[in-house]
Amino acid sequence: MDKKYKRTLVTCALPYANGPVHIGHLAGVYVPADIYVRYLRMRGEDVLYVCGSDEHGVPITIKARQQGCTPQDIVDKYHNIIDNSFRDLGINFDIYGRTSSKVHEKNASEFFKKLYDDGKFITRESEQYYDPEAKTFLADRYIVGTCPKCGAEGAYGDQCEKCGSTLSPEELINPKSKLSGAEPVKKKTTHWYLPLEGYEQWLREWILEGHKEWRPNVYGQVKSWLDGGLQPRAVTRDLDWGVPVPVEGAEGKVLYVWFDAPIGYISNTQELLPNDWEKWWKSEDTKLVHFIGKDNIVFHCIVFPSMLKAYGGYVLPENVPANEFLNLEGDKISTSRGWAVWAHEYVRDFPGQQDALRYVLTANAPETKDNDFSWKDFQTRNNSELVAIFGNFVNRAVVLTHKYFGGKVPAAGTLEDIDKEVLGQIPELKASLEHNIEGYHFREALKDAMSIARLGNKYMSDTEPWKVAKTDMDRVSTILNISLQICADLAIAFEPFTPFAAARLREMLGSPLDWNVLGRPQVLPAGHQIGEAALLFNKIEDAAIDAQLARLDRIRAEREAAAAAEAAKQVAPQKEECTFEDFEKMDIRTATVLEAERVPKTDKLLKLTIDTGLDKRVIVSGIAEYYSPEDMLGKQICILANLKPRTIKGIESHGMILMAKQGDGKMRFITPQEALANGSQIG
Ligand code: 2FM
Ligand code: ZN
Repeated sequence: MDKKYKRTLVTCALPYANGPVHIGHLAGVYVPADIYVRYLRMRGEDVLYVCGSDEHGVPITIKARQQGCTPQDIVDKYHNIIDNSFRDLGINFDIYGRTSSKVHEKNASEFFKKLYDDGKFITRESEQYYDPEAKTFLADRYIVGTCPKCGAEGAYGDQCEKCGSTLSPEELINPKSKLSGAEPVKKKTTHWYLPLEGYEQWLREWILEGHKEWRPNVYGQVKSWLDGGLQPRAVTRDLDWGVPVPVEGAEGKVLYVWFDAPIGYISNTQELLPNDWEKWWKSEDTKLVHFIGKDNIVFHCIVFPSMLKAYGGYVLPENVPANEFLNLEGDKISTSRGWAVWAHEYVRDFPGQQDALRYVLTANAPETKDNDFSWKDFQTRNNSELVAIFGNFVNRAVVLTHKYFGGKVPAAGTLEDIDKEVLGQIPELKASLEHNIEGYHFREALKDAMSIARLGNKYMSDTEPWKVAKTDMDRVSTILNISLQICADLAIAFEPFTPFAAARLREMLGSPLDWNVLGRPQVLPAGHQIGEAALLFNKIEDAAIDAQLARLDRIRAEREAAAAAEAAKQVAPQKEECTFEDFEKMDIRTATVLEAERVPKTDKLLKLTIDTGLDKRVIVSGIAEYYSPEDMLGKQICILANLKPRTIKGIESHGMILMAKQGDGKMRFITPQEALANGSQIG
């Protein structure tokens, strides 16, 4: 570690306790942080690893209302699910706290009070929507109405989920309160704001000048916020769920969730180390690193540092390695649409296979751009990398050692060129691995670790000790000695990435967990007894993947059906006014289909011969998507008889069949309720 620092404080974004965590969260935040922490610990560094649930905010209150329970019930439920899924995946925080705790309420409240007393806030009066029946101010999410952009019903005051437009409640047509259904009214309210513009110059120097090494996505986002000019940010809200604002005249107000949540990192440290927490937050020799997703960059690089600066005495992050997003099978992961792989369900569906997920999420980590998770890729990487290379190599080394040497590490004799070459590569890979983890390049670091496994596997295949055993047991002894040393290296190198397999391997070999010995000669001394071969990784069968794909197909189908049902309800706006005379010009009549056939080389057109009562004529109609020729035979329909003839695909069409068209495009022809003589006039 950098000589400047004596200890590292690693924080992971506090997940909202209104749903379980999914693979996007894991790949973006928790798996990389865990790799980093495990690596530092192996190196003997002093590390504190802090996380917890983010239990405030409007979405939690909405969910509670929908489910007819209290916000506390919601956060209790998801806090436990999330906490357990992290543990199950080997992500072992020193503390997984919660922002509904007493310690946090006191700490966040005091934090606000000090800034308030020090005159760091400004107040502003603004007009906010208010529900006159429920007698409460309404967060934007609590106001619904018609989207001004696409006309969808049920758009929220901050966003239309149908067309994705960002909205403000003022733009909604016919706005209604979600609480009472009443029409919201504007009412004056006062809030406290942190005037971020006063921190702009300092942020420029600290980040734009001082941290050019930050990831380009993070640096770029910070730069564009700063270049756009910072504005005062409200740090309080009119809401009844959160940390009450601790000043007079603030009844019914709480701290804004994004003000209290990052203070949660500090509160959780206090909860764990009531007497020793300050060393982690207030000593210049603490290295603070925030692991987050890209949607949190502004809060961790601009807002929270400004809060800490305003308070004074706190360390600032040394780095904020934010990731981009992970997609699932080509589509954006979405909690509300159920398009996700949930951590707790993965653990249930793939028992004992935590490493496979950690491995694949790291190999595909969205470090520089959004990336995709697909179940087929997951299966391939597990089966052809973890099982076929890493697992296979270790298995061959251990099994052959038992077969030829009774499970005792055989001695190495004179080294041949191939041996020296293989052993010479390990320190290089180790150096690259260190460089990559310390620079937050976890994908590359995993490639380095995997290169050690590939090296061992290739060495075994090239040297073929099972064949050499027929003629030269001294040589077999050397080959297996070297192979077992590489296995011991793997048990260290893979500890950050696949900790369960790495621990099994160390147990099998009786080998140490110490970064310093990776690559050293003879870590396993000759004569050392190793255990029986045990499987490090299990093959993932097609059936398991098919079951996951089928689940996603069902979600996709349900989503499409719901979207179609929604579209079907959309009613086209009324056309421009016309006069009775305009209408009178149209000669609409009943007619019967006599013959019907598809128009060759088209998908949509049918050629219909019809009896109009006046004559027999041909009409070409674009209904083939909805009706086959057989469906149309003998049907009584309505036509516009006096439409000017048109030539369609070389056929002259005399009139038009009247169709009713639903919002989703589905069409049906119009037929009189009872059969009438052909040529009966409609009007
Ligand atoms: O985006 C989120 O999921 C937030 N709950 C992250 C909060 S991080 C920190 F500030 F607490
Ligand atoms: Zn819309």
